[in-house]
Amino acid sequence: MFPVLQLSELNQLPPDTPRYGVMGHPVAHSLSPQVQLAAFQACNLPATYVRFDVPPEQLDTAVQTLRTLNFQGWNCTLPNKVALAQYMDELAESARAMQAVNTVLRDDDGRLIGFNTDGDGWVRAIREDFSIDVRDLRILILGSGGAGQALARQAAMEKCERLVIVNRTPEKANLLRQELEPLLHSTKLLGAQDRLKIVPWDEAAIADELNTIDLVVNTTSVGLRPADPAVLPARILQPHLFIYDTIYRPAKTRFLHAAAEAGCRSANGLSMLLHQGALSFEIWTGRSAPLTAMRKALREAAA
Ligand code: ATR
Repeated sequence: MFPVLQLSELNQLPPDTPRYGVMGHPVAHSLSPQVQLAAFQACNLPATYVRFDVPPEQLDTAVQTLRTLNFQGWNCTLPNKVALAQYMDELAESARAMQAVNTVLRDDDGRLIGFNTDGDGWVRAIREDFSIDVRDLRILILGSGGAGQALARQAAMEKCERLVIVNRTPEKANLLRQELEPLLHSTKLLGAQDRLKIVPWDEAAIADELNTIDLVVNTTSVGLRPADPAVLPARILQPHLFIYDTIYRPAKTRFLHAAAEAGCRSANGLSMLLHQGALSFEIWTGRSAPLTAMRKALREAAA
């Protein structure tokens, strides 16, 4: 129903309907077409939204093609989010802060503006799932890959109460600390606890931190495969913790099972996906996103 198109096929789209899409490599797994088309339909806005495969070496050609074909906007998923920034005529604050672009808007003058809705989408997701703002939380982030970096940057920009970063490869976490330290340097009184801290991937060390953490976020890929263990075991989780797993397929990872066993409130990454998409829709149309229709489409597509 939503085939993956090659760049050469994009000129076959209906000429008079506004064009949107998602680029990725791979891109077949993307749920954006279902969610965005549901949104356009709910608002009675005509639109096509397609997915197209763009390997990194074709990014240059892809941007030229999308300009020529007058795409109104598009989403970008891995692996081109960082590289896409250099092709934009202007970067919104969100894209500059995240050092990556996941949403492009073509303005009335044909200029391409790059945005990033990943961080703000996550903030909205946490508010929806746990009725609390990121800035009021003490947060432990597992992982410092693309997703981990984005959420750590957002948490620091929100000036969250405390940020602990744990990564299997400590170098990546240390780089993030250097970058984020100026944002979280403050006179807040936290006793002996560091407001920004890097902790080794060690069960006892993590367990110790969890005494002074409210929200744990898994951004690692542990849990994507059926045989994967819980990224943290139930025995070190405490009932006061909110647990957020950015993975949404499977809907309930072993980590989320461990959270339930420990009596924690938890949520999976679908809410992040929903709100990132909703923010893209708002950037393109200037309208509030029809969340109910988008959520329904997302649940059906992810099932
Ligand atoms: P993404 O863009 O989705 O974040 P990524 O950049 O490949 O993907 O990052 C994957 C993250 O999962 C990294 O933080 C990685 O840790 P390393 O930096 O040490 O590679 C983490 N990860 C993957 N497998 C892991 C495992 N078995 N245990 C712990 N962390 C793991």
